[in-house]
Amino acid sequence: MKFAAKTILAIETSCDETAAAVLRLEDNTQWPKITTLSSVVKSQIKLHSKFGGVVPEVAARAHVKNILPVTQKALSTAHHTLSTIDYIAVTQGPGLIPSLIVGVEFARTLSLATGRPIIPVNHMAGHLYSPFGGVKSKIQNPNAEQNPKSQISNYKSLFPMISLIVSGGHTMIVPMKDAKNYKVLGQTVDDAAGEAFDKVAKLLKLPYPGGPEVSKLAESGKPQFEFPRPMISSKNYDFSFSGLKTAVLYYLRDHPNTSPADICKAFEASAVDVLATKTMRAVKQFKAKSVSLSGGVAANRALRQELKVNCQKSRLKFFVPDKNLCTDNAEMIGLAASFMLHNGYKPRGYQTVRADSNLSL
Ligand code: KG4
Ligand code: ZN
Repeated sequence: MKFAAKTILAIETSCDETAAAVLRLEDNTQWPKITTLSSVVKSQIKLHSKFGGVVPEVAARAHVKNILPVTQKALSTAHHTLSTIDYIAVTQGPGLIPSLIVGVEFARTLSLATGRPIIPVNHMAGHLYSPFGGVKSKIQNPNAEQNPKSQISNYKSLFPMISLIVSGGHTMIVPMKDAKNYKVLGQTVDDAAGEAFDKVAKLLKLPYPGGPEVSKLAESGKPQFEFPRPMISSKNYDFSFSGLKTAVLYYLRDHPNTSPADICKAFEASAVDVLATKTMRAVKQFKAKSVSLSGGVAANRALRQELKVNCQKSRLKFFVPDKNLCTDNAEMIGLAASFMLHNGYKPRGYQTVRADSNLSL
């Protein structure tokens, strides 16, 4: 199907990052050519760190304060205005409802004022499509090299693809038949992978947000002991990380003088082993030709490395976004919206769009 070039303003406020991005989707017969013209993320880390976690009411108030300047900056960096964009993409869910409402109602207001229709995007679809990140605009970085992933010539050779999404709220294995058809094969039955990283960080009294701190400390840790690998041998593709966190708690109680770096190393090794083993098992079952990794925990170096090595051994292509595209951002919402359009989605009037905190993929 053919499309004329379209410009999308994307908005993301599902948790604690206020983000806006402008992307251009160009006419392309098989694989969409997507250019990121701008991507702005205003983090609320400082605001929540004194509470040791995200406080929904505080997050929503910060989104209200930040959404206009963040959107203004995304538009001006891209050399666009509200009158030159074609669609407004916005994260509809899942996420914290007070946070989601700010983005969705802002998008609805823009839609009412400009007459531009809305593309409501599932936040997890944003993560899912983030490895297909497009060409960075020359406006943003005149010396940027074109991202080779945007030059996927033989896209059929990528599918079936097994996608592992690991974020603060979700852990999912999603087989993709092609760039349109996918379904969730397995997910966590309790804590998400990122949540486990954050809880282990709390046990070790590391600063918020914990995932990157655990990841950093693990690099200097030594593999002295092992934690269990929950559900690694289960017949399904589900995960459980709450038992692993409890194992860390008991180990700390019984061995209070263990170096935090060694605890982080052992915990990370266990989480990475379970995630990679189950992903590679799905690869075999679905005879996949490639693997993709996304979500905040995809910023973890050990996990990136483990999946990369596994894919090299099995001669599979491996896609993982740059680290700033792993944690929450609006560029990935624009990417998912671009693929939705490419796959025939008809954008909607503002009247029917609502935030949905429990939206499933
Ligand atoms: O995708 P994301 O930004 O937000 C959600 O949609 O949840 O993911 C945030 C999660 C947090 O739990 C954070 O601790 C974790 O990603 N994270 C990491 C790393 N960077 C962020 N976990 C492990 N290693 C990292 N380097
Ligand atoms: Zn996320």
